[in-house]
Amino acid sequence: MIMGKNQTLISEFLLLGLPIQPEHQNLFYALFLAMYLTTVLGNLIIITLIHLDSHLHTPMYLFLSNLSFSDLCFSSVTMPKLLQNMQSEVPSIPYAGCLTQIYFFLFFGDLGNFILVAMAYDRYVAICFPLHYTTIMSPKLCLSLVVLSWVQTTFYSLLHTLLVNRLSFCADNVIPHFFCEISALLKLACSDTQVNEWVLFIIGGIVVVIPFLLILVSYAKIVSSILKVPSARGICKAFSTCGSHLSVVSLFYGTVIGLYLCPTANKSTVKDTVMALMYTVVTPMLNPFIYSLRNRDIKGALRRALFRKKNSFCV
Ligand SMILES: *[C@@H]1O[C@H](CO)[C@@H](O)[C@H](O)[C@H]1NC(C)=O
Repeated sequence: MIMGKNQTLISEFLLLGLPIQPEHQNLFYALFLAMYLTTVLGNLIIITLIHLDSHLHTPMYLFLSNLSFSDLCFSSVTMPKLLQNMQSEVPSIPYAGCLTQIYFFLFFGDLGNFILVAMAYDRYVAICFPLHYTTIMSPKLCLSLVVLSWVQTTFYSLLHTLLVNRLSFCADNVIPHFFCEISALLKLACSDTQVNEWVLFIIGGIVVVIPFLLILVSYAKIVSSILKVPSARGICKAFSTCGSHLSVVSLFYGTVIGLYLCPTANKSTVKDTVMALMYTVVTPMLNPFIYSLRNRDIKGALRRALFRKKNSFCV
């Protein structure tokens, strides 16, 4: 455990939670519980459908299933603890719990990010090299992309977690947030956090900016290949295959950019909290709907799955 200069032992942190009035506490509890259950259910349905239906065993849907898995875990890092704390008198989290939360938050946040890149690359190959699609996007390449994402995100989140672990925390243990957010935690440390801040800025920038640029390049190539031979059919095809991915990407990067790149003049923690809610609760919840509502293949798979169920009931 950590011994501070004034010999206080910090074994747990207090999470201030959301800026909600006590009389609205139950309403928001119900709302977040419903949102979390929707997230879990929606993503589980996507994963199950994709694995059950052999029509969906294509790179695009296997990546989508990976994204759903990552979203499901990502919101499970923060939501159950938030729900528990909303109901408890002392909303605390043990020191080890806090580090665990930091680790998995970074892990699944970054994993989802890299899966989005793999999906963009997949769309790029599908539209720019339709004839070579199956040879380029081989199962081996898909698996390598997924394994690579897992390996790099393991190192990335381990690095940050170990760097936080070497800090000492003294008297102040109140985190003005609803989960152990790494930058909120750095503000509480009573040892020097210069290294942490640099690493967070540089590595954090790299793992957000590079994937974003890769996605932009993929889409730039897709657009230029469509413009070379402009046909209504080509444009429709591109929109129908890329539309959902583009919406998910905008949702993800919109919130991240809004949070980290738009400076807040008056250190507003309310804005930070609301933005954090956007990407921890809302984005993982919406992803499955964005994909399934607009997607004929997923709807077909759902129909087939339900139909098969009904048949087996009749027998
Ligand atoms: C993730 O993608 C890989 C490679 O395409 C696939 O083999 C695996 O089943 C996917 N994982 C999930 C949870 O869908």
